[in-house]
Amino acid sequence: MPVLAIIGAQWGDEGKGKVVDLLAGKAGVVVRFSGGDNAGHTVINPYGKFKLHITPSGIFYPQTISIIGNGVVLNPAVLIGEIDHLNQCGVNTTKLFISDRAHLIMPYHLLLDRLEEESRAGKAIGTTGKGIGPAFADKVARSGIRTGDLLDKEVFLERLRFILDYKNTILTKVYGASPLSLDEIYGQYCQYRERLAAHIMETDTIMERALNQDELVILEGAQGTLLDPDFGTYPYTTSSSPLSGGGCLGAGISPPRLSHILGVFKAYCTRVGSGPMPTELKDETGDLIRERGHEYGTTTGRSRRCGWFDAVGARFSTRINGFTGIAITRLDILDTLPHLKICVGYKLKGKTIDYFPSSITALEKCQPIYEELAGWQTPTSDIRQYEQLPLPARQYIARLEELLPCPVSLISVGAEREQTILKTPVL
Ligand code: IMP
Repeated sequence: MPVLAIIGAQWGDEGKGKVVDLLAGKAGVVVRFSGGDNAGHTVINPYGKFKLHITPSGIFYPQTISIIGNGVVLNPAVLIGEIDHLNQCGVNTTKLFISDRAHLIMPYHLLLDRLEEESRAGKAIGTTGKGIGPAFADKVARSGIRTGDLLDKEVFLERLRFILDYKNTILTKVYGASPLSLDEIYGQYCQYRERLAAHIMETDTIMERALNQDELVILEGAQGTLLDPDFGTYPYTTSSSPLSGGGCLGAGISPPRLSHILGVFKAYCTRVGSGPMPTELKDETGDLIRERGHEYGTTTGRSRRCGWFDAVGARFSTRINGFTGIAITRLDILDTLPHLKICVGYKLKGKTIDYFPSSITALEKCQPIYEELAGWQTPTSDIRQYEQLPLPARQYIARLEELLPCPVSLISVGAEREQTILKTPVL
């Protein structure tokens, strides 16, 4: 039965939360499959305005099960804060489950994220500071602690003692920092267990039941394709895979089950943190997009770098994810511009290239080759039918479809659920 992956197609912040919220009403299960609370999914619906960092965006539908998948790293304090806030707003969270295979973010991950960034000095990645890199590094190094370990006090204590001993050696000997207290962390995480134990389980069985009963399963991506540690602008990337392939791994879905892959693109580009961004605009057009789009990070409040749509990166993203459809968000932010540009190729060392280089040294040298299109200079936020969009807006969308190449299903013209144009069915 349908499994729909909703994937960030650029550098994150594409508006995946809104798209998941829009489609989750039809779903039996929504699974967050990667990242951690570095993500910030803004959702506006009848319950209010929410900035979800770790809770799947399907949480607002009482019949939908929300799962924090095995591919996520979980900061329990952040999740408890979100559950409390959602409950206060009248949202039921009893159908929220956490895979017992998901890894925990521990206090030393937060500390090491900061210390490692400081030690990178001029070459800092600009992480969100949420302990994501150190937590995924521990997972792969087999030094992680999983949410399932938290359920058994003795297993948890033994594992924490063993790992903390090593972490304290790094903290004190490498960074000259103070050691962390075993008792304090243990006590704190025992409190988290009290709150979260009922939600932690082998979530595979829920997935299996949903698939066998032909329910729609949505895999909710976090971050964006160009932040993928393999295919993104390494080392200026995140530490888990935001790709559709990452969705299979991080949710426990076999690849042939994945029937629909929706790539979410902003109508322009943004990036937070360091690393190359060929179409970045360091001028008044970039400032205008930032101000009109309130382009400030949901998680860190940092101002986002803004630029024209990069069809070279977008084509690469479409290919490695296998998008079957596209959602274009924030089209309305471009409403006032007299003309628009789309990057259709790069100039590198005097040659024209049409691919996204794997090396950031090369990407940093790439000069965008632009195609210019007319702007529409008409408000679009109240439009709900594709045919009613001004002609230049339809021409812009049609050109993106041609360049990617992939059909556009959804166009978002505002933050609210209903500010959406359905061009072709997603499923
Ligand atoms: P980390 O994931 O916190 O380690 O940060 C690594 C890079 O990914 C930094 O450039 C962050 O700004 C970026 N990043 C992480 N999460 C997000 C996100 O949800 N949206 C946009 N950028 C992100």
